[in-house]
Amino acid sequence: MQPLPITDRSHLLVLTGAGVSAESGIPTFRDAGGLWEGKDVREVATWDGFAADPLRVWRFYSERRRAMADVAPNAAHRALAALEARLGDRFLLATQNIDGLHQAAGSQRVVELHGNLMRSRCSACDRPPFEDRQAYRDGVAPLCGRCRAAGKDAVLRPDVVWFGELLPPGALARVETFGRAAGRELLFLAVGTSGLVEPAASLVDAVARIGGRTWLVNAEPPANAARFDHVALGAAGALLPTLLAA
Ligand code: OAD
Repeated sequence: MQPLPITDRSHLLVLTGAGVSAESGIPTFRDAGGLWEGKDVREVATWDGFAADPLRVWRFYSERRRAMADVAPNAAHRALAALEARLGDRFLLATQNIDGLHQAAGSQRVVELHGNLMRSRCSACDRPPFEDRQAYRDGVAPLCGRCRAAGKDAVLRPDVVWFGELLPPGALARVETFGRAAGRELLFLAVGTSGLVEPAASLVDAVARIGGRTWLVNAEPPANAARFDHVALGAAGALLPTLLAA
């Protein structure tokens, strides 16, 4: 595949999904052996599931926190970080991943559409999300210290987006502002995402509407593959270093 035609005026918006971290050893959601296989997502990834059994939800995310100890960014994360170093503010990376591997590879202009696994927040009060690498498996779900000090009991939750919830405040607006400013100079690259979860799945259409050009790198054709101008099938770690070469 030819490298992306990046000029001095190009702005690059990148969208990543679980496939970009697959080669780091993190399971995707919908592939065979993925995180959702054999699991009722309503139990571990909705507010109702959390309200019914917060510790069950915490066990699921605690296991994912524990698994992060053994992983590192791969060639795809590194290629994106290297390109950002060249493009500066003409680069923006929107990720559906909660693993923080883009930042670990050196990416700075990152919009976390679905939150971050290594942060927690209170399920009741407006205290800002905070870094939390702890695993909660036994006894009762962790409680918010601030609410406790005020004489209330409120459980902490992972700072991630569940099905049916809004994206973090400002996340989509930042992506839209970047796209609008770029206009026809916008290049859009989606990597490792099944094209099934909104609003990420429709970003390709928004880019096309403002005259931008679109590329897709994915192991298999995702649900929205036909809506991209260019499609490269294969592993992100193998393809991105070539696609993003100078
Ligand atoms: P999925 O598991 O739905 O899709 C991952 C995609 O990556 C699949 O299309 C694979 O073919 C592809 N893939 C696998 N390995 C790859 C590799 N090495 N290189 C390139 N592509 C590869 O994951 P997402 O699309 O990220 O949301 O899922 C979107 C959201 O759905 C997630 O953020 C999560 C999930 O439910 C929440 O939890 C809110």
